[in-house]
Amino acid sequence: RKVVFSGIQPTGVPHLGNYLGALRQWVRLQEEAAPDTTLLFSIVDLHAITIKQHPADLQQWRREMLASLLAVGLDPARCVVFAQSSVRQHAELMWILSCGASMGYLGRMTQWKSKLQLPDSALPLASSKDQLKLGLFSYPVLQAADILLYNTTHVPVGEDQAQHLEFTRELATGFNHLYGPLLTVPETQLSAAKRVMSLAEPTKKMSKSDPKPKSRILITDSRETIHSKLRSALTDSIEGVSYDREARPGVSNLVDLIHHFDQAGAASPEELAQDLKGLSMRALKEKAADSVDKSIKPIRERYEELMSGDQKKLISHAESGARKAEAMAESTMQRIRNAMGIGW
Ligand code: TYM
Repeated sequence: RKVVFSGIQPTGVPHLGNYLGALRQWVRLQEEAAPDTTLLFSIVDLHAITIKQHPADLQQWRREMLASLLAVGLDPARCVVFAQSSVRQHAELMWILSCGASMGYLGRMTQWKSKLQLPDSALPLASSKDQLKLGLFSYPVLQAADILLYNTTHVPVGEDQAQHLEFTRELATGFNHLYGPLLTVPETQLSAAKRVMSLAEPTKKMSKSDPKPKSRILITDSRETIHSKLRSALTDSIEGVSYDREARPGVSNLVDLIHHFDQAGAASPEELAQDLKGLSMRALKEKAADSVDKSIKPIRERYEELMSGDQKKLISHAESGARKAEAMAESTMQRIRNAMGIGW
């Protein structure tokens, strides 16, 4: 039986990287799911607090994320949408897994290493490196717990999560070796748009934490904002359009965006670039903006409706999701506790 699990941090409205790399794929999996497939999508608020958050912001962002997940098309009747912190078993399994997690392996994680390479002044906690927190280091163990609690078979994510999933498999295999084959070893499922690049610095991925808001387009951005952000996207001074992610990262990122949003269009980004080769940079940007706007307009409209509608009803979707998730998680935990000799 197929079980799909994925998560997203409530650190602001999702951007096109989140949407193309993950959320759109989640909706597709939901549409294609066989009746006996279980789909779980979690707002991972416990991950968000590895970086200091203002309580009021976190609460607001959780709600915005819930509205975003429903706005992109996740249907609470068909999948389990819930907040990670509502299901206590995530934290419990994390502790258990952390007893088998290697510090060496965690220390080699790219996301952790990138934090170590930042100058002290740029660190999220406004503190120096030796004050980096344990939660940030053990973050991937909590992610593994999220996945392993539900006997997940498939995890649809963007490429930046691939290393964490490799680590998850390692933890599951190690656990099974000690206590018997209890945990399902999950597969990574990358979408076609596995790495959407920043508009301002197209050699870096589009990211929520980039200080420049123009580097990313949010799924709730207005038509004007989308056009203005794309107009100022960094390209190059080579004439015409061609596709080469190494030599022309900015132009290629725009071609990719059009390609990913233009479902009926060209078969590959190379072919699309060939069709567009006569366009000026300005015209390419306009075209990209039109195609982004056309695709995300319905999402923006549903989002606004959800955020201005009955908030109790909105939240009730996550509450009933949490009850379903908890029942599944508790059944896994009972087997784990028994196998480990925890309890009478
Ligand atoms: P997060 O919240 O940073 O991102 C959510 C999803 O968006 C994808 N993504 C991208 N894909 C393509 N191009 C980009 N520029 C881009 N930026 C982000 C991410 O790969 C991700 O799929 N650690 C996770 C959350 C998490 C999780 C989990 C995921 C916690 N537990 C269990 C899967 C399973 C994270 O921080 O994602």
